[in-house]
Amino acid sequence: MRWYKEDSVCYKGNYGCCRLRFNLFLVIVIIVISVGRFYHRRRLENIDGSYDKSQINVETIDVVNRESRSGIRLKEILLWTSFYKDRYYGLSKYGRSGFIERKCPINTCTLTNDRRKLTTADAVVVHARNPDMKPLPKRQNQKQIFVFFLHEAPPACFWNDRYTIPDDDKSSFNLTITYRYDSDIVRPGIGKLVKNDFPANIPTISLKERTRSVVWVTSHCSTPGKRELYIQALSRYIDVDIYGKCGYLNCSYGDPCNKAFDKKYKFFIAAENAVCKDYVTEKVNKALSMNIVPIVYGGLNYKRYMPPNSYVDVMDFASPRELASYLKQVAVDEWKYREFFTWKASYHQVNVPIASTMCKLCEKLHNPIYHKLYPDIVQWWTENSCNNAFITNLFFRGLV
Ligand SMILES: *[C@@H]1O[C@H](CO)[C@@H](O)[C@H](O)[C@H]1NC(C)=O
Ligand SMILES: *[C@@H]1O[C@H](CO)[C@@H](O)[C@H](O)[C@H]1NC(C)=O
Repeated sequence: MRWYKEDSVCYKGNYGCCRLRFNLFLVIVIIVISVGRFYHRRRLENIDGSYDKSQINVETIDVVNRESRSGIRLKEILLWTSFYKDRYYGLSKYGRSGFIERKCPINTCTLTNDRRKLTTADAVVVHARNPDMKPLPKRQNQKQIFVFFLHEAPPACFWNDRYTIPDDDKSSFNLTITYRYDSDIVRPGIGKLVKNDFPANIPTISLKERTRSVVWVTSHCSTPGKRELYIQALSRYIDVDIYGKCGYLNCSYGDPCNKAFDKKYKFFIAAENAVCKDYVTEKVNKALSMNIVPIVYGGLNYKRYMPPNSYVDVMDFASPRELASYLKQVAVDEWKYREFFTWKASYHQVNVPIASTMCKLCEKLHNPIYHKLYPDIVQWWTENSCNNAFITNLFFRGLV
C-alpha cells in the first residue's frame, strides 16, 4: 500500500497515515454493524414469524417460524377472511409479533392470511360476515380447528347467497368466537365492568338543569327488533327527542353534540336493532360513560352484566305507558335519579378489544384435549336466539 509508513507516528500533513487509521476505523465499524445485524436477524427469525424471508431458504424458515426459542411449537392461525376491513383481527401484524406486542399471556402462535397454509394450519378463522369467505375451506386433518367468528346479530347474518353457509360446511366448525356468552370465546358486546381499587367519586347531578326528558339517536329507521314502534308508542306518554336520520333533530353518532346530552336530558335510549340473545352494542357503554340513565331495549340479560341500578329495562314494564309513568316519577325525584349513578363509586367500564379474543384463541390452541364440534353452526347461531316478536305481542294485547 502506498501509505504504509515506517514510523508509526502520525503527524500533520501525513495524509496517508490518517487515511489508514480512518479506513481501519471504518472496517471495524462495518464489522460491528454486520455482526449486530446478524444476531438481530437470528433473534427476529426465532421470535417473529413475520420476518421477511425473501432471502432465506423457505424450508428452514418454516421450521424456525413454528419453533419458539423455548422449543414450543408455534400454533399456526390462518385467517381465512379479514374481520370486516381489519386484516389482523386487532393484532396489527402477521407472524408472532402481534401476539407479543399485545402482551398475550400465551403468545406462542403465529398469524397468517396466506390461504396456501391451509394444509398446515392448526386453526382456520372465518369471519362469517365477510364477502370473501367463500369458498369456505375444507378440513385438511382431524386436528385442525375451524373457528366461527361473528359479532352481528342473527337477523344480519346469512341473508343472501354470498353470505350463507352452504349445507356441506355447516358442520365444519369446532370453536366459536362471538358476543354470545355460550360461545367458546366470548367478546361481550358491552365490554367489561371492573371493580375500582378505591371508591371513585359519584357525579353530582342537578336535575333542574336538565330541561328535556328522553333522547334517542338513530340512523336505522326500520329494524328487525321494531324498536321504532316501541319508541313511537312511548313518545305518546313522554317527550322523546329523536336525533339522526330517522328523527327531526340533527346530531348523529360520533358528532360532538352527543357529548352534551347529559347536560340537557335525563334518559338516553340504548335500543338494539334486534332483540337477540346477549346482543348488545356500544350504545349502552356510551350511555354509561355519560351521566345519563340508559333505557335499554335488547336481548341481553342486563341484570347479569350491568351494574345494579344503573339502567331502566323496557322489558321490565308491561307496556310503554307504564314505562313512561315510571320515568316521569324518577324525573322529578332527585334522590331516586342520583341512585342510578352510585355504581360509579365501585365500578368502571373497560373495553374488550378484538385482539384479546385472539390471545384467548392462541391459549385454547395449546390445550391438547380441546375437542368440540358444532353439528350445524347456522342452527346454533339462529335457532331460538331472537325474540323480535316481543313488540307484536304487546300490539296484540293492546299494550302499544
Ligand atoms: C339537518 O340537516 C339537514 C342537512 O344538513 C338540513 O337540511 C336540515 O334543515 C337540518 N335540520 C335541523 C332540524 O336542523
Ligand atoms: C372439528 O369438527 C370436525 C367436523 O365436525 C370433526 O371431524 C373434528 O374431529 C373436530 N376437531 C376437533 C379438534 O374438535
